[in-house]
Amino acid sequence: MAPDRDEAVNAVLEPPCPEQIRREIREGLTDSPRRLPARFFYDARGARLFEEITRLDEYYLTDAEVEILGRRAARVAELVGRGVRMVEYGSGSGEKTWIVLGELEAPSAYVPVDVAREQLLSFARRVRERFPGLEVLPVAADYTRLDELPWPEAESGATLAFFPGSTVGNLEPPEAVAFLSRIADQTGRGEYLLIGADLVKNRRTLERAYNDARGVTAEFNLNILHHLNRLLGADFDPEGFRHRAIWNDERSRIEMHLVSLRDQVVALGDPDAEEVEISRGEVVVTEHSYKYEIDSFHELVRRAGYRPVEYWTDTDDRFSVHLLQSASP
Ligand code: AVI
Repeated sequence: MAPDRDEAVNAVLEPPCPEQIRREIREGLTDSPRRLPARFFYDARGARLFEEITRLDEYYLTDAEVEILGRRAARVAELVGRGVRMVEYGSGSGEKTWIVLGELEAPSAYVPVDVAREQLLSFARRVRERFPGLEVLPVAADYTRLDELPWPEAESGATLAFFPGSTVGNLEPPEAVAFLSRIADQTGRGEYLLIGADLVKNRRTLERAYNDARGVTAEFNLNILHHLNRLLGADFDPEGFRHRAIWNDERSRIEMHLVSLRDQVVALGDPDAEEVEISRGEVVVTEHSYKYEIDSFHELVRRAGYRPVEYWTDTDDRFSVHLLQSASP
């Protein structure tokens, strides 16, 4: 049966449970080093701030990836063939989605998967307006816990998963391997994955991308505290912390930190629970953004059961896009 066109299918969402989140936040904040999970950047304001980051001059990742896709999407279309079911992980990426979908030959369906239901449905509507006749099957789900993806009514060719933006770099390498294996399980063996990965480069360019002159990334980083205050009734003082992003050459990653500006005590919204003490100068890690060499990225994807088909970089060799194929059964 055709799904209701304004609905999301296969919803695998659990209502957020503040107790569970509070436990996770306490565990992270009292760990060494102290940390907060990066997924809490993204409330509505955080999503807007991230959009703004992608338009900053210093944040070269988006322009570089758009350049690659603009030049290579036709080649991707040729490699994956006709009638593709395209699955995008994360709320649609706008321009990047248009570029790829626009080149595919008679795609059978577009399946965006995301936890942010409203954003997902509004993006699905935009895709329908732009590609009338294309079957759009949004899935409101946590894609790390999703087993199956919907099939279109029309006969379908290969499945092409799309995971742009170097979001894979926000996962620790073992988590990235687990996540990519999960995509392979969801899309099926022998199917394709088109994925963006940021490349290792000089420290100056990397650190500028995460310390922009207008301070948008700083706002984005501090927004995690505003979000947790609202979500848990916690009392983080965003003015008591400053943003810092540094390149860790040994680990090949940008590390985003919040540095405590004074000795402070944070209540996490449960009056019966102990408060967390943070001293002046102490660091809370909020995000890692791993950067890869082509070879180290290929090694990572091979561990997840993928075979590199082709890859491309932008003219300045800052960013890479890879077409991969999962091992056949
Ligand atoms: C979403 N992700 C790929 C971004 C990155 O570059 O790691 C998140 C980000 N953090 C600060 N600026 C952008």
